[in-house]
Amino acid sequence: MDAAVVYCSQTGSAKTYASWMAEELGCTPEPLDNIETVAANAELVVFVSWFHAASLKGAKRFQAYMAEHPEKRYAVVAVGATPMPCDLWPASEHEEAFRRSFPADQYADLPWVYCRGGFHFERLGTMDKMAMRIYFKMLEGEIKRGNKREQISLDGMRKGFDGCNRAYLEPLLEQLGVRR
Ligand SMILES: Cc1cc2nc3c(=O)[nH]c(=O)nc-3n(C[C@H](O)[C@H](O)[C@H](O)COP(=O)(O)O)c2cc1C
Repeated sequence: MDAAVVYCSQTGSAKTYASWMAEELGCTPEPLDNIETVAANAELVVFVSWFHAASLKGAKRFQAYMAEHPEKRYAVVAVGATPMPCDLWPASEHEEAFRRSFPADQYADLPWVYCRGGFHFERLGTMDKMAMRIYFKMLEGEIKRGNKREQISLDGMRKGFDGCNRAYLEPLLEQLGVRR
């Protein structure tokens, strides 16, 4: 199968997943800006991007490409700092966040997977550093009210972490028929 992998990444996590995905599919990952050239002959185009305030960076650009090329297959890898689905972070929350960028009424059949990325404050741009400082203050308020999730989130982001794990791509690889 002729495949292409395009990505948006600021601090490297989505780029890491894009490299793993490209390795699986036998192609070279390229920034989303190069989609026109890199996906020209691809049957399958995989978009790897990160959550920025609950929406996926570059989703609109990718969707415009999808609309222009309805003959191709598509898939999405959504990367965020939120932990993988578990008791404190149910899968429904990841689904809800994903559906804000890819609503179910328009993209019901689009294969996708959530993969935990990392958090690297020092690599963020100036605006995002400012946004995160405000967000940290907000989390501190929640922690004072006894909220456990916010405590875990803030601790993780203050220290920084790399939570990328190639195994998180497996459900999508199975869905795409790369694993048999
Ligand atoms: C301003 C800002 C907003 C973010 N919003 C979310 C979010 O809504 N949900 C989430 O899971 N992660 C969120 N994150 C975390 C990033 O998605 C996470 O760090 C991701 O791994 C970054 O990908 P990258 O390393 O490819 O840039 C946010 C990060 C920043 C800087």
